[in-house]
Amino acid sequence: MDKLVIKGQNKLKGEVIISGAKNAAVAIIPAAIMADDVCIVENLPNIEDVKCLYATLDKMGVKCEFLDNHTMKIDSRNLDNVSVTFDEVRKMRASYYLLGALLARFKKAEVAMPGGCNFGSRPIDLHLSGFAALGAEVEMQGEVVKVSAEKLTGASIYMDTVSVGATINIMLAATMAEGTTTIENAAKEPHVVDAANFLNMMGAKIKGAGTDVIRIVGVEKLHGAQYTIIPDQIEAGTYMIAAAVTGGDVWVKNIIPKHMDSLSAKLIEIGVGIEESDDAIRVFDCGKELKATNVRTMAYPGFPTDMQPQMAVLLSICNGKSIITENVWDNRYQYTDELKNLGAKINVEGRMAIIDGVDSLKGTSVDATDLRAGAAMILAGLCARGETIIGEIKYIDRGYEDVEKKFALLGADIKRVSM
Ligand code: UD1
Repeated sequence: MDKLVIKGQNKLKGEVIISGAKNAAVAIIPAAIMADDVCIVENLPNIEDVKCLYATLDKMGVKCEFLDNHTMKIDSRNLDNVSVTFDEVRKMRASYYLLGALLARFKKAEVAMPGGCNFGSRPIDLHLSGFAALGAEVEMQGEVVKVSAEKLTGASIYMDTVSVGATINIMLAATMAEGTTTIENAAKEPHVVDAANFLNMMGAKIKGAGTDVIRIVGVEKLHGAQYTIIPDQIEAGTYMIAAAVTGGDVWVKNIIPKHMDSLSAKLIEIGVGIEESDDAIRVFDCGKELKATNVRTMAYPGFPTDMQPQMAVLLSICNGKSIITENVWDNRYQYTDELKNLGAKINVEGRMAIIDGVDSLKGTSVDATDLRAGAAMILAGLCARGETIIGEIKYIDRGYEDVEKKFALLGADIKRVSM
């Protein structure tokens, strides 16, 4: 099994190019099969989740081809299989988007319940009640969700919890419903906007993505499109914190700095140097003491829950007491036990993690307990004294392209080894 071995305390320097957004890619690839046509999706991250979707579509009978490592041609002209119950689909949480996409085009779908990272209960009730509001019948058969409709009809849908997945999934289905759908209290994440932009390029009529209210006028058919997905906000944030925890000086490039506002503001508050250009952010040691702060995770434009474990590493070496409040997921602190093994002082009380800053962390063997927890372990290893060995890195590979190469280019001592 592969592990990452890191010798810590090298100050990271130089520039890193950020890949396309995982969470946009995993929505846009399923959206592409809504057209009885050919789509080309560019700037895909070269990660396991994308490869898993490729394998899934291939098994469904979609003709998929990687034109290069980051570009996929998706030809859905011969697609007629709406039953997606094989193993590949269970590996990924985002396979739920196949439900919305197939329901839109064929008015029926059967998809095995999603897997992916386990941080507490991850229901899809809002997705399913949204489909029902559009006129679909929803049935659970063991682990398989079945949806079908004579026809889909636009509806007014109010989401009582802000959900990225439900917003995108309902948007997919409503794109090919009859009449107008309104989604209120919609998620505003950059990848919601990216999925809407892609659908509009395919001929959908979606307005308001990125605000609380999305209006969708249904169309009968979509056509093929060529589309470049946005940069990955969370990968960018991970490298920003890597520069901060090592006291380095790194330009994080090929990003949309606006997407990073909540993180940049926190880093400045802590005492980290930040400089912005049009499509890059420099994170550097500006000579200030790193001070503790409080962080509350929230839906966009709030502080992203997917940056919470990485932020905990930085707060672990800040001077003073910090409090993190996790408002999105019930159980996203499994990684804190691993971080404690590295010398961090963290107490978890319900939704809060109370962190007392220490001078430094000390390398040891830890596991990635999920994708972003794995990223946090890398950051901890980069700033810890001595050697850190990270196991279960399959989680990291789900969402970070060339992770050890990108860090090594910045001067990190990091290797992937078979153990
Ligand atoms: C997406 C991201 C994930 C991120 C999360 C929150 C993808 C593939 N994954 O996950 O990395 O952590 O957004 O930013 O984009 N909820 C319900 N019922 C539902 C759906 C969600 O109660 O039907 C709740 C969840 O339990 C959670 C909250 O809504 O408390 C937010 O979840 P949601 O935004 O849906 O997360 P995902 O789309 O699964």
